[in-house]
Amino acid sequence: MENNFDVIVIGSGPGGYVCAIRSAQLGLKTACVEVNNTLGGVCLNRGCIPSKSLLNSSELYHKAQMEFNNLGIEATNIKLNLSKMMNNKKKTVQTLTKGIEFLFKKNKITHLKGRGSITSADTVLVNDDSKKTSHKAKNIVIATGSEPTSLPGIKIDEKIIVSSTGALSFEKIPKDLIVIGGGYIGLELSSVWKRLGSKVTVIEFLDHIIPGMDKDISSEFLKILTKQGINFKLDSKVTEINVVKNKAVVDFTNNKSTKRERIECDKVLVAVGRKSNINKNISKLDIKLDSHNKIKVNNKFETSIKNIYAIGDVIDKGPMLAHKAEDEGIAVAEIIAGQAGHVNYDAIPAVIYTSPEVAMVGKTEDQLKKENVKYKIGKFPFLANSRAKVNNETEGFVKIIADEKTDKVLGVSIINAVAGTMIAELAIAMEFGASSEDIARTCHAHPTHSEAVKEAAMAIDKRPIHF
Ligand code: NAI
Repeated sequence: MENNFDVIVIGSGPGGYVCAIRSAQLGLKTACVEVNNTLGGVCLNRGCIPSKSLLNSSELYHKAQMEFNNLGIEATNIKLNLSKMMNNKKKTVQTLTKGIEFLFKKNKITHLKGRGSITSADTVLVNDDSKKTSHKAKNIVIATGSEPTSLPGIKIDEKIIVSSTGALSFEKIPKDLIVIGGGYIGLELSSVWKRLGSKVTVIEFLDHIIPGMDKDISSEFLKILTKQGINFKLDSKVTEINVVKNKAVVDFTNNKSTKRERIECDKVLVAVGRKSNINKNISKLDIKLDSHNKIKVNNKFETSIKNIYAIGDVIDKGPMLAHKAEDEGIAVAEIIAGQAGHVNYDAIPAVIYTSPEVAMVGKTEDQLKKENVKYKIGKFPFLANSRAKVNNETEGFVKIIADEKTDKVLGVSIINAVAGTMIAELAIAMEFGASSEDIARTCHAHPTHSEAVKEAAMAIDKRPIHF
């Protein structure tokens, strides 16, 4: 037995590393186990961060080609150097993962390198190929995240049929890219490769994209992406993918008409969701799982075994989002330290980092209808927002939903260039139990995109000024 810890966190993604830092801040002797060479989990190494790097670079490339000239910036001979773009992505990832190493050292967190497994309720075994070490812990936090799922009979080879991991590292721009799934990953990566020159077709099982978001937003977003040149095959089920001579042949059937279609392409991205990362190595104990193979936790993030906690994508609570995992990491550390850690699942923002961005917090109209809640709506288009006009970013709108009687804000959705940044204001408003009138009477700087939030709040009372 090598060491005794107050807390051992298994996994160093946004849930795990944040939990380790908060635990150490609270004076707990903390270790974090990570099987990958670098810290940061999927988010930093092959998820949020590299995808945002490519989204940013590809958007700038696209703007330089399509928009600069109109602004009087006459750049000629704009060329893409994909390997440089990928190198920039790699450097960003390296800087951030090294940043976590630094934070671990600063907070005196022991970084245990290897694959962690729980051998008893207070023991973690770390296996790093060459040696195995056992460590005692008063508390164990499972933060092992998630991995991409595929479709029955379709094997991801990360060469032609890829997950998000492969699609973040193509060495050449695919001429034809098929994306299965019109959710977060599918649409962000469709945007990247479309801007860099691929012909992109998204095949989505449902009759709309971004399920879970407000229907108004989803239909507006579909129009915008279609205008950008992304093809959509909605209401369609992929039945087979065959790889023939370095090409993929994708067969799919329309759910309603039963019409069959076949498209040949260079690459297929399978983005149909993620599954929790649980295998027997994590725990030989009988930790209870739900029907989706996620760890069941109570509101203190306790699993069915005392002193073993779980957070992030691996649990049966909340969306699979990095910032949700981070908040759970902080909450569970505080709970372990005897404080009142808590996560409000009603005010977790969600953002799709396309151009324009899509963001939401709280409930959608469909959810409120199901819950029989009476509500009122205020909408304001960016076409009538001065800053959006100045920046040529007039697509989209803000939609605020408030309780019909109390006026309490229940949900907000935004499509706009900076929706992901704007949504923070609404998350705070909801955390403070704001009414739409509170937002309407809060002074918003001019000229900013955020004035559209104030105007949407005023629109609830039918008194927007600029529309
Ligand atoms: P997702 O759940 O967002 O979207 C999956 C899509 O695939 C859905 O539209 C679904 O209807 C569709 N689908 C499912 N089965 C299908 C089939 N057989 N044929 C065609 N379409 C099918 O999942 P995604 O995009 O893989 O993302 C995984 C997770 O990662 C999500 O939970 C998301 O929250 C998270 N994520 C978050 C990001 C962000 O915060 N910006 C970025 C990337 C991922």
